[in-house]
Amino acid sequence: MRVGVPKETKPHEGRVALTPHACAPLVAAGHEVYVEKDGGRRSGYQDEAYQQAGVIILPDAKTLYATADIIVKVKEPAGVELDYLQAHHLLFSFLHLAANPSLAERLRKIGLTAFAFETLGENGEFPLLAPMSRIAGKIAVQIGAHLLHEPEGGSGVLLGGVADSEPGQVLVLGAGQAGSAAATVASALGATVTVLDNNSERLTGLQTKLPGLKLLNETGKELTNTVAGTDLLIGAIMVAGAKAPVIVSKDEVQQMRAGSVIVDIAIDQGGCVATSRPTDYNDPVYNEYGVQHCCVTNLPGAVPRTATQALSARILPYLETLLTGTWHNNAPMLAALSVMEGRYQHPALIKQFVA
Ligand SMILES: NC(=O)c1ccc[n+]([C@@H]2O[C@H](COP(=O)([O-])OP(=O)(O)OC[C@H]3O[C@@H](n4cnc5c(N)ncnc54)[C@H](O)[C@@H]3O)[C@@H](O)[C@H]2O)c1
Repeated sequence: MRVGVPKETKPHEGRVALTPHACAPLVAAGHEVYVEKDGGRRSGYQDEAYQQAGVIILPDAKTLYATADIIVKVKEPAGVELDYLQAHHLLFSFLHLAANPSLAERLRKIGLTAFAFETLGENGEFPLLAPMSRIAGKIAVQIGAHLLHEPEGGSGVLLGGVADSEPGQVLVLGAGQAGSAAATVASALGATVTVLDNNSERLTGLQTKLPGLKLLNETGKELTNTVAGTDLLIGAIMVAGAKAPVIVSKDEVQQMRAGSVIVDIAIDQGGCVATSRPTDYNDPVYNEYGVQHCCVTNLPGAVPRTATQALSARILPYLETLLTGTWHNNAPMLAALSVMEGRYQHPALIKQFVA
């Protein structure tokens, strides 16, 4: 089997799916591995390092897609990448099809077999998504803290405060991987942190680690009041494979103080705040009702060295099931299967697009 790793095309997306270190055992097992020229450069991996691992560098994406059977990449294909994909390809990457019906339909029509990193897993554990979510949770607080600065258009609140000042109020929607990471960083800064989740075990588990945490386990008046007093709201709700439920309404956003900030991490699945819409690192922030919104769909793309290292090693065992044809017997891979032979395969996609 020929494995192809293209250079990512999304603005400021510096990750690459496989490091040279991850490619070496594939080559040793007799597979041909191709990487697009400069594919790893922004993560600090030069073409020469790939060549030393036995990888063949190809000059452009068109050649790479024409050469490879399996395309392993980070973000969902877009633009000309879609013209290069063919029915015989196995595509293995983040896809987020529930939030992107036109991409879902395009992949279905191409007739290829596509596996989504974000639904790969079992028993509520998502080993490829989790490290990216933890990175996104940490970045969300860094971005939010910066956007609260007055010269950035923020309300002028220092999240951690100092003696004789009020600390910033942070509301995190979701106590999963991204939400827990965000709550941990915001608490460490000294902010007052409230976390909402409909899974009480997750909430109490997080409170054991962060005793100062305030908990919310349902929407309604208490959430409305909390949103109104929030300086930084972070969205991190997920229902695997499906569009994110909207937890915070437009009316609730309108109650927030001017210069407050929303970072909706869940935007890759459509977002969990009514006023969220996808942005990228070229133009990451917009203002709605006086509230700054940052809804970048590839937050970890800004820290590619860290994110590539965290992702690449975890891809390898699952990629091996594609190379050996054993994915049919692998539960996490079956959960990742999104489209095949012109049909949607994931239950959430069937429910959304077919049923
Ligand atoms: N923007 C980015 O760059 C980026 C990067 C990584 C992850 N993400 C996204 O972040 C989101 C969160 O990912 P995660 O790994 O933390 O997921 P997770 O499954 O670990 O956590 C999601 C949490 O949402 C809770 N939840 C689900 N429905 C709810 C509801 N109706 N009310 C209250 N709580 C509810 C779940 O109980 C769970 O604790 C996903 O959409 C993921 O794709 C985005």
